Amino acid sequence: MSNTSIRKDQEGAAPVSSMTVLVVGATGSIGHLVVEEAIRQGCIVRALVRNPGKARELPAGAQVVGGDVTRPETLSDAVNGVDAVVFTLGSDGAGKVGAESVDYGGVRNVLRALGERTVRIALMTAIGVTNRTGSYNRATEAHDWKRRSERLVRASGLPYTIVRPGWFDYNRPDQHRLLFLQGDTHQAGDSSDGVVARRQIAEVLVHSLISGPATRKTFELVAATGPAPNDFDALFAPVEADPPAALDGVHDMPNMPLNDEPQRVRDDLNAMRAHKFPPTP
Ligand SMILES: NC(=O)c1ccc[n+]([C@@H]2O[C@H](COP(=O)([O-])OP(=O)(O)OC[C@H]3O[C@@H](n4cnc5c(N)ncnc54)[C@H](OP(=O)(O)O)[C@@H]3O)[C@@H](O)[C@H]2O)c1
Repeated sequence: MSNTSIRKDQEGAAPVSSMTVLVVGATGSIGHLVVEEAIRQGCIVRALVRNPGKARELPAGAQVVGGDVTRPETLSDAVNGVDAVVFTLGSDGAGKVGAESVDYGGVRNVLRALGERTVRIALMTAIGVTNRTGSYNRATEAHDWKRRSERLVRASGLPYTIVRPGWFDYNRPDQHRLLFLQGDTHQAGDSSDGVVARRQIAEVLVHSLISGPATRKTFELVAATGPAPNDFDALFAPVEADPPAALDGVHDMPNMPLNDEPQRVRDDLNAMRAHKFPPTP
């Protein structure tokens, strides 16, 4: 770990500028904005890139490190010395296999690669992630696997914030007032569930890394008519924390019983709780 103590971060005391932040999904539509925002806030930013050709699109200030989240043996350089990890992975278009191997397996493999280190986590999933019966989840299982990745983060015991954004950039130009919702009750499966600008998602993810009041919180992120916020701690503070050792976000629907989960998922959760991981191949 570099010079910043994450314990201080949990108390909200450490300046963001001293953190080394790994962005997993850095070349994506949200990830590259996270890279920009973290650099803007003075972080040392490491961008995980699986396709070297895409590294050229990243800001010059980012450290580029190669790695593929589905190949654990490629991740040790990426996690070495980091204070925080922001996950903005997406396997869109890759169906159930991609959802399990990237959206879920990618988070699992990076958490495993961190080993015993205490690292701040910001995980982006999606609004409606607890909706299991809609056509999107039935076709892709993307909600289920993203929700399982949330469960792994909670089980890791690491300080975290889980952000479930609404529809990217469907906001009107006057919609920048941020609302943090809980219970994941907006499940129409279209932009009526909520909208938010990509750049504001990146801001929330990066601000969560240094905000004490953001710790152990899960919320949906949408925008309403009004100006953008300045004080992120004030936004995080009233959000309810997840109960300690909870699998799901506070107020989430209890519609994914652990006993019905695949054995491999239960094994991953048990290993994550115990910090006992299989050796990297
Ligand atoms: N669109 C919406 O309104 C909306 C709303 C809420 C949530 N979401 C969800 O948000 C997620 C991210 O969205 P986005 O627009 O940022 O996605 P995106 O532009 O497709 O970015 C996905 C990122 O994941 C990386 N990635 C994929 N597989 C990888 C692997 N095996 N190893 C390392 N990196 C890998 C991609 O790398 P490459 O560049 O190499 O492919 C890319 O950096 C999506 O899953 C989406 O479902 C979307």
